[in-house]
Amino acid sequence: MLKFFLMASTLLYSINTFAADKIMPEKISVGDPEVGSSLVSTCAACHGSDGNSLNGSWPNLAGQNQKYTYDQLKYFQNGSRQNVLMSSVIEYLNTLTDEQLLGIAAFYESQSSNVGQATNDEELLALGEKLYRAGDLGKGIPACTACHSPNGAGNIQAGFPKVSGQQKGYLESTLKEYRSQKRDAGAYSLVMQSASANLTDRQIEALANYMHGLYEN
Ligand code: HEC
Ligand code: HEC
Repeated sequence: MLKFFLMASTLLYSINTFAADKIMPEKISVGDPEVGSSLVSTCAACHGSDGNSLNGSWPNLAGQNQKYTYDQLKYFQNGSRQNVLMSSVIEYLNTLTDEQLLGIAAFYESQSSNVGQATNDEELLALGEKLYRAGDLGKGIPACTACHSPNGAGNIQAGFPKVSGQQKGYLESTLKEYRSQKRDAGAYSLVMQSASANLTDRQIEALANYMHGLYEN
């Protein structure tokens, strides 16, 4: 019985990995940022015309790597990632081809992101920096630098998201949604569900404040 269970879960795991591999279309298409820029007028109301959003609770898309943005657009399209505000554009996203979504993602990647300003609270900054750089291994919290890089640029090849300069309110809400496992789209979300499982609200606030103020140089 146990053996069967193990076999079944291995199978499930390989199907999941298979599905994740299949997110990028068969024939790798690069996506045209010019085509993308002609498709995002409805997005500007929240994400800004250049991908720098208008509200601290809404994510910036400017400078985000194409693979990550593309994957998220697919998750919204297929309903595995859900959000009330984004639901207003799902019908529209459903009319777009993968090629067009790649174009949108390429357009946002080509835009430069605004630099954020962390709250100047020494204790909060120190806590955020310590967790971001070293994690808290006793609590199972990994160093964020391992995947998001020391300056928050993320990892373009792997499609790990850029977090530097990201809106603070959004960083907080999305970390809480990973923690509660509400954000549960795609195999990669499991990595963040595990990384955030033992974070307290105060630690999330500190991390969000720190990442918001990080910038690439
Ligand atoms: C009414 C406001 C609104 C509009 C219009 C809107 N968005 Fe969003 N978008 C949001 C919010 C809020 C989130 C954060 C969702 C969450 O917390 O899960 C989001 C998330 C995203 C994300 C994921 C960002 C990340 O860092 O994971 C992408 C990509 C995105 N939107 C693209 C678009 C595109 C493309 C359009 C236009 C077709 C669009 N959005 C229109 C509000 C909006
Ligand atoms: C092993 C690699 C890895 C580690 C370590 C890691 N992350 Fe992530 N992170 C990812 C991946 C991959 C995603 C995209 C997940 C998805 O598709 O939902 C992500 C997503 C995120 C997001 C959402 C970005 C967005 O625009 O919505 C935030 C915020 C984040 N991570 C913060 C952190 C913090 C804070 C830490 C350290 C406590 C951390 N990560 C540690 C790989 C990692």
